[in-house]
Order: sequence, then structure tokens, then C-alpha cells
Amino acid sequence: MAGLLLMNCSMNAQQTNPLLQHESEITGIIKSMTLEEKVNMLHGKNMFSSAGVERLGIADIEYADGPFGIREEMEPHSWKGLGWETDRATFFPTGSALAATWSRDIAYQYGKAMAIEARLRGKDMILGPAMNIQRIPTGGRTYEYLSEDPILSGQLAIGYTLGAQDNDEAVCLKHFALNNQENMRGFVNVNVTERAMREIYLTPFEMAVKQGNAYGVMAAYNKVWGRWCSENDLLQNRILRIEWGFRGIIISDWGGTHSTVGAAIGGLDVEMPGNTYMGQALIDSVRSGAVPMEVIDAKVRNLLRVRMAITPVPKDKANKEVTSQPAQQQIAYQVASKSIVLLKNADNLLPIGKKVKTIAVIGDNATRKMAQGGVGAGVKALYEITPLEGLQTALKGKAKIIYAQGYEPQPRARRGQNANLDEWKKKAETMKAEAIEAARKADMVIFVGGDNREVETEGSDRTNMNLPFNQEELIEAIATVNPRLVTVMVAGAPVDLRRVNPATKALVYSWFNGSEGGHALADVLTGKVSPSGKLPFTLPVRLEDSPAYALGVFPQKAQAGSSDVFVDLVNRDNFRAEQKADADYSEGILVGYRWFTTKNVKPMYPFGYGLSYMPFSYSDPKAEVKGGNLEVSFKLTNAGKKEAEEVAQVYVARPDSKVERPKYELKGFERVSVKGGTTQDVTITIPMEQLRHWNEFQHAWNIEKGKAIIYIGTSSVDLPLTVEVEI
Ligand code: GLC
Repeated sequence: MAGLLLMNCSMNAQQTNPLLQHESEITGIIKSMTLEEKVNMLHGKNMFSSAGVERLGIADIEYADGPFGIREEMEPHSWKGLGWETDRATFFPTGSALAATWSRDIAYQYGKAMAIEARLRGKDMILGPAMNIQRIPTGGRTYEYLSEDPILSGQLAIGYTLGAQDNDEAVCLKHFALNNQENMRGFVNVNVTERAMREIYLTPFEMAVKQGNAYGVMAAYNKVWGRWCSENDLLQNRILRIEWGFRGIIISDWGGTHSTVGAAIGGLDVEMPGNTYMGQALIDSVRSGAVPMEVIDAKVRNLLRVRMAITPVPKDKANKEVTSQPAQQQIAYQVASKSIVLLKNADNLLPIGKKVKTIAVIGDNATRKMAQGGVGAGVKALYEITPLEGLQTALKGKAKIIYAQGYEPQPRARRGQNANLDEWKKKAETMKAEAIEAARKADMVIFVGGDNREVETEGSDRTNMNLPFNQEELIEAIATVNPRLVTVMVAGAPVDLRRVNPATKALVYSWFNGSEGGHALADVLTGKVSPSGKLPFTLPVRLEDSPAYALGVFPQKAQAGSSDVFVDLVNRDNFRAEQKADADYSEGILVGYRWFTTKNVKPMYPFGYGLSYMPFSYSDPKAEVKGGNLEVSFKLTNAGKKEAEEVAQVYVARPDSKVERPKYELKGFERVSVKGGTTQDVTITIPMEQLRHWNEFQHAWNIEKGKAIIYIGTSSVDLPLTVEVEI
């Protein structure tokens, strides 16, 4: 797992970094440009492009939302699609699903597949990976982000970045930084300790910049320590550029620029999508002397570096064939089939046995498509295999499938109208009766429920973790008539399982899992594939158990004089209104499982948890410090009959530390395939840099000497092997 550590600014990096291969040529180009031409590169040309220099034959930069599929072609100056057909793309499993694979190699393939589809559409930079730490279980973009742990998120972001950029497509790490909530995201001010900011929230970005050499970073909407991210000198200049050696471009989030001089001096390169601040106003600021020409030239250099590192797709070559192609669809399947998490399997109800002849498939999410919905990135998918379709294909000729919708999402109140809930309640009774009838007649029930893309969405956080649309009553009623119940949660974030868990014999998390999600789910449920996904976040028993809620620091209200207005993503005027709200990250470094393990709070299902159909066991642990790394090795045995994959995890504790520490922290992991009845030797190499902690007195990283206890196992709470080592 050793990352290819690109040391910053060292000679070999300069020689190999694609962003630094044209420095003298760029100097000449800049000398030949007018101020207008330079500034013209520093703001949106269209909704999703920034200008090149036509006179010099320098192509525009074309951006495309990801991060889990290339967004349809949009009108140049609006949020409306053009309604083409060639831009139908592959819907890849969303962020938390990719993270549930716990595999940097899979993330590499994911980034590569995204790059291939982006280039078919003539795009230069994918607006992804979306990689902010999942600080709250109700975060609107938890489904889109990766995980609650910086090392897991960082390794996946490295894989995604290298996969894309090795295939001639830039990435744009987002959102930099500390965008960990959607409520009031346009103006919330994050108060966080320096140590938590460095160790938890910035580390994934640092890893993707230093080890992935990301070409782009997107400034977040929010403020950190009182300064807008898009003009935050500490984040953008001092940390990102000077300390980490970032050489690419920093673009604003859409509508997230708030000043001319502040943004220009504060490190922003490109205002997207408009030119309110970095257009004529910037030209005027240069002419008045408020912004030195050197600052403009440095920005133009960053843009030309990225432009010259990515081969432009000629306009007459783009959109010549449908974006979604079989090779990439196969990647979507691979990711989906390795993301699915088996949480419970009482009486080994799964995989579906040959004796099962009639299956009732119940639930709105058995047929609901998840590629689009809510606010923000959606994919106009070429196709999306639903769970029902996947099961019908896999069980054709083997079992009869009866489908009952069972429930439907309640109608959403449109602006100014009350939703007609009476009608919905009446219909719900009928649907529930039909579902119970179907369950009664079946040998087995597969309930497919969970959230959907309206419930989990950019722009607003959930107000609770409840399973929506009265699913719990339905699940309990079904279990009463047929206890041979498999419950599949289609969701991107934690949901409350207190009533579901005891009612169901088998329980699976199957994510917003892409175009091939239905095939992947069916292959896991039928046993063609052994489940190997692991939770990328803690699944709490109760929302109040999670740190920000337990400490009462989330949700917060907007301060007097402002309103926690729902930001209107189209006109974005609300972004400019002087709103105020503070988010106090009082839990410090105890985010996610760090809180639950250290405070001894038992979760419903822990970070890193996931069962397999095959019995794995761990033995023979060793650990040593060797060549600047911590080498951890052990044996992994699959005592079952069939090949299966396991994600082995390594956590490190520092019992004698002189500073506050979590009980232990994830420092390494490896997805390993082991043939049935065999034992595999596994070595996980952890760069010593990953054992660092932030010293708030020195304002620097330290690697503390002393004893380290290494825990090895299959989840953050099931760590059968222990070995001590001296750091
Ligand atoms: C949105 C999102 C960002 C996205 C951008 C362009 O507001 O925050 O992730 O890339 O606008 O759609």
C-alpha cells in the first residue's frame, strides 16, 4: 500500500511533474499577453469553462461535474441541459460506495473510467473527487463524499486522481476546505482547532496533492476561522501552495467568490462561473496598483501549466459517440460489487439457496433510479439497472419473483402548497396490505428501502437519520408474516436501524450504486460474489450518539440578523447577503469512530465493518520500523470453500503519548483476495509520515517517539491481532 510519495519541490518531482514541463515556454507566453488576455483566463467563460487565449492558439479549459459520472452537456449560461442523447454517461457508484470498497486500486480504475468518459465529451477537468470528511451522519453530501477517516479518504482520492490524470484528464479536489455540512454552506464559518484541521480535515487533500499531484482544487463555499475559503491566504497560499507544493489551479465553487482584491491576493485563480470579481474589476485593481501584475502572472502560469499538461480535445472530435461505453460500465460493476456491505446474516439466510422458488421483492427503492435527484451533480445515465431488474435477470428460470412497491415517498410540499398527505396515507395502507400479501406467499422476502436522492442531497442536511416514508412499520409487518427477510438499505449515509435490525434476518447496505448497481446486488445476494464492502463511516445507534450532536454543536442556527436561508443554487444572490453562522468543531480530532471508540459509545455498526460469506481468520502478526516505514505483516486465512476478498485493517494506538490521542487510528488497510482453504501472507507498509501528529505549540508536524500498539483485524472494533513496536 506504500504510496508513491512525490516529495515536494525535490528535483525528481520537478523533472517528472507534468505541470512543470513548460516553465520557460510559459514565461514567454505570459510576456506576450495583454492584461485583458490574462484576466480573461481568470473567470468563467461559460457555465463550465474558462477561457484560453485564442490569439495564441491556447484552448479554453472545459470543466465537468463528476464526481460519479460526467454531467450532461449544459446550456452555456444556465443550469439547464441541452437535451442531447450522445451525452448519456455511466452512473458510477457515488462517493461513499467507492469508499466502501476500501481499495486505492479500485479508485484508480474509477478515476481512469471517469477520465475516458470525460474526454469523449471534450472535457479537461473533472470536478471531483468530492472528498470532505463526513463529520455528521446527516450531511447532505455524505453520499457524495468518501469517509469519516482521513487516511481512507486520502488513499481513495490518490487512486482516483492518479487514475484520471494518467489518462489525460485533470481532477479538481473539492471542496477545500472544511465543507462538512450543507446547511448554510454558503456562509457558515468553521471554528476548528489547528490540530483537528490539519490531522482530520486537510490530510486527505494533502495526500492527493502530494502523492496524487492533483492539477485542480476547488475552494469551498464556507469560511474557516472567519475568512472565506476562496480568499483564505492560510489555506490557499501558505498551506496548499507553499507547504504542500501545489502547482495547479484553484477555482471557486460556483458563486463562491466574494471579492476582487481579497480573492486575488488570497490565492484564488479562477472565479466560476461568472466574472463579477475577477473580470473588469480585476483589471481595474491591477491598474490601480491594488493587485500587482506578478500576482496575475502567477495565476496565468498556473492555468497554462494545467492547460499544457492536458491534451485539449478538438471540438470536432468531442461528443462523436455515446459517453457511456461497455469498458467503463464494467468498471462501474466492479466498484458496485465490491462496495456492498453485509451487516447481518442470521441463519446464513444469504446467499439465496437453490430451494428458494418464490421471492417477494418489496420496496420503492427496488425500482427507483438514483442517478439524478435533489440538488447538484446528477448523471443523465445511459441506463441504470435497478435492484428488481438485477434480481429478475439473475434468478430467471431459478425462482419466481413477485414485486410489490410497499410504500412510496410522500409528496414533497411545493413552494406555497401543502402536500396532499391524506391521499398519500390512504394509498399507503393499500400498498402495505399488498406487500404483506406478497410476503406471505413467498419463500423469502427481499425488502429494498432506504433513502433516495431527494432525501440525501447537496444544499441541505437531513434533520434526522430516520428511515423515511414509514418503512419501519412495513418491515416489521413483513417480518411478522415471513421471517425469512433480507433487508437492503439503498442509501449513501447512515440511517436509524434500531427497529430494522431486530426485525430482519439479513441486512445489506447497497448504496447509490450506479448503472450496474442492480446486477451487483443480485450477484452478491445469489452468492456469485462474496460481499466484501466495509463501512466507510460509523453507523450510530442514535444520531445523538455522534460527536457533533452529542456536544450540541450541530445543527446551529444562523445568528440574529441573518436567516438560515436555503441557498438558491440558481441565482445565488443569497451567497452575497451578509449571513452569519458559526460551526464549532468542539469534538476536535475525535471525529467518527475516534469518538465512539475513545468515549466507549457502542455504535449500531462500526467503521470498517462488513461480513463475508467466507470465514476469514488472522494470525502471526509482526511489525517493524524499516526504511522510513512501519511494516506490518500477518497471515490471513480463508477457511471457506470459495475465493473471497477481505479488507484487512491496521489501527495504531500510542498509549504513552504526551498529547491527547484517540483510542487508536486507522493507519493502513489492504484489500486481499484469498482462495478457499488457503492462507495468504499480507504486508501493509505505512509511511512513517502517517504516524505524525500536529504539535499546536510548534505549529508543525511531529512523529512522537515511544511505544506503538498495532491492532490488526477486520473492522475498527474486531482487531484480533496485537503487536507492539518502538517508534
Ligand atoms: C455546486 C457544488 C460543486 C459543483 C459546482 C458546479 O454548487 O458545490 O461541487 O462542482 O457547484 O456544479
